[in-house]
Amino acid sequence: MSQFYLPTRILQDTDVVVKNAFELNGFGKKALLVMGGNSAVNNGAYHDVTTALQKEKIDFVYFNGVEPNPTVGTVVKAAGVGRMNSVDFVIGIGGGSAMDAAKAVAVLLANPKRNADYLFENDPYVTHLPLVLVPTTCGSGSEVTGVSVLTVPEKKTKKSISHKVYAELALIDVKYLKTAPRELVFNTAFDALAHLIESFANTRSTDYSKMCAVAGLKKWGACRRVFDGSKFQPGENDLRKLMDASVMAGMAIAQTGTGIPHGLSYPMTYYLGIPHGRAAAYFLAGYLDCMNEHLRDQILGFIGYSEIRDYRKQYKYCFGRLEVVQKEQLIQILAHAVDELSKNPEKCATAPFPVDVEVLKYIAFYEIQETFE
Ligand SMILES: [Fe+2]
Repeated sequence: MSQFYLPTRILQDTDVVVKNAFELNGFGKKALLVMGGNSAVNNGAYHDVTTALQKEKIDFVYFNGVEPNPTVGTVVKAAGVGRMNSVDFVIGIGGGSAMDAAKAVAVLLANPKRNADYLFENDPYVTHLPLVLVPTTCGSGSEVTGVSVLTVPEKKTKKSISHKVYAELALIDVKYLKTAPRELVFNTAFDALAHLIESFANTRSTDYSKMCAVAGLKKWGACRRVFDGSKFQPGENDLRKLMDASVMAGMAIAQTGTGIPHGLSYPMTYYLGIPHGRAAAYFLAGYLDCMNEHLRDQILGFIGYSEIRDYRKQYKYCFGRLEVVQKEQLIQILAHAVDELSKNPEKCATAPFPVDVEVLKYIAFYEIQETFE
């Protein structure tokens, strides 16, 4: 059976938030804005959202303390702000971290008698406050997925909450990318690429999910040149393609979930602080190498690469050497990643080839020599 489920209404335009302010009216009289740091202020998204809310005479409060890879504790704090102010709906503004946190906050606010453990309990009848998401990066695709990944310090890793939380409305405007620093664009764009590859080459993929992944891979490939050369000066068209690729990647993983590269990446992010996109994309070359030739060539062809080496060169150009870490430390963390993922047969079964511990090791350690050269 094939299914394609995506209940989020997606509006994409220049100045989409202010132009469609009236869309916010149906969600209530008071909003909680969930953001990380000052980036939403700097890229103009906070200004647009508050302008739209004022235009519609909707009151708001905000929580701007969402850190990268947000913890359950941060979500609880943000929900506290929302509860104290009796908000009716939640607006998440930012990258994957802010949007993922906003989803979990929307669940806690709709279930005031439950504590944070509820986020990781199974409840097919879970409810959440209405949710609007405004992405300001080109990577997570969280605005169109039901997934919220949080850091669980007690378990020393990142974990998806048990509930699928889809936004009622996603407002996509490429202008927020224009002020994004180079590293942020690189990290998030490679996250989107990992989503596209992991979804396309996934045992759960369908013709419908592949349609999104192929369109996204082609968009990503059409502007990959912005990652070459000594100057990073993407034009608006390039940024739009990256944003589109990210949304399409989100649509694709909303159907299939992510695969082994994402599964291996979490300890690298948790223990070494390596940004999520850079960490997930680190494993793509090894993952591609394990696929059959036809599938690999198909994927490389959509992007415009001739061979895996083209991808490795581009990754290395963008991220350089892993200077933050000693080789021995990385080996230890990769071994831990293999160990953890080998206990997750469901994730391993998403790969388009048989997976055992040796295969996981092969993928995890594929770049180890290159990393320190
Ligand atoms: Fe990701």
